[in-house]
Amino acid sequence: MQYTMKQYEESAATLREQIGDFTPKVLMILGSGLGSMADEVQNPIIVPYEMVPHMKRSTAPGHKGQFVFGTLGGKSVAVMQGRQHHYEGYSFYDVSFPVRVLRLLGADTLIVTNAAGGVNTTFEVGDLMLIKDHIKLFFESPLRGENLPEFGPRFPDSSYLYTPSLGELAKEEAESMGLNLQEGVYMYFPGPQYETPAEIRMARVLGGDAVGMSTVPEVITAGHCNMQVLGITLVTNMAAGILPQPLSEEEVLVAAKKARTQFSALILACLKRM
Ligand code: HPA
Repeated sequence: MQYTMKQYEESAATLREQIGDFTPKVLMILGSGLGSMADEVQNPIIVPYEMVPHMKRSTAPGHKGQFVFGTLGGKSVAVMQGRQHHYEGYSFYDVSFPVRVLRLLGADTLIVTNAAGGVNTTFEVGDLMLIKDHIKLFFESPLRGENLPEFGPRFPDSSYLYTPSLGELAKEEAESMGLNLQEGVYMYFPGPQYETPAEIRMARVLGGDAVGMSTVPEVITAGHCNMQVLGITLVTNMAAGILPQPLSEEEVLVAAKKARTQFSALILACLKRM
């Protein structure tokens, strides 16, 4: 079910009661196993999702399910420690709900991270990929239904969803850290089953470099309400059919844990310069 303006405002008001006059400028949605960055937030105000009206819980492994408001890299942030996914049984309206609520609270930038399977065979497990664009075929849009003009237009442009200047900034910071930042197209698959080898061959033909089960609904919603977006993917595994072995959730979490320090350092460096 679509949410009404009143419902977004109710949630924003509840969060406002918790955070007082703090204005989060940057919303950070942290993916599988990467939520630990929230522990570095200074003067944290923690709000569990269940305290926020209409907000769905996170049930995915490695997703805590709380907002952490505070300062990180000198910026006022709202970190989502855990997100909602369509495969958890949630609608795209549910999944993108917090983006609009944080927009109402003053956030104008979204930093989004995720774990994904590498489709591009020049990638290696542990690589970070700057998301230049995405592909979302077949699945319904989070903007389907009545448009809420308070957030944005009926037919929003999608040419620059991933803000080019933020991408450049990430590339510069990666270079000065001596980190090899890949670039590519993130292709959305709904999950929860991992893709088949045939689907991965299709993804490659269509121009996908990495595949994952998140991020795209939130980014579409952020673009609609005119937020800047920086998206970075961690390649936690090579996608199905590339290596002669099955995919596992454990492999994803192990890779995420290994890359955590480097990933956090890059995001922090970007935040400082935003
Ligand atoms: N496919 C989809 N989602 C994922 C993958 C994958 O291979 N790895 C981590 N998240």
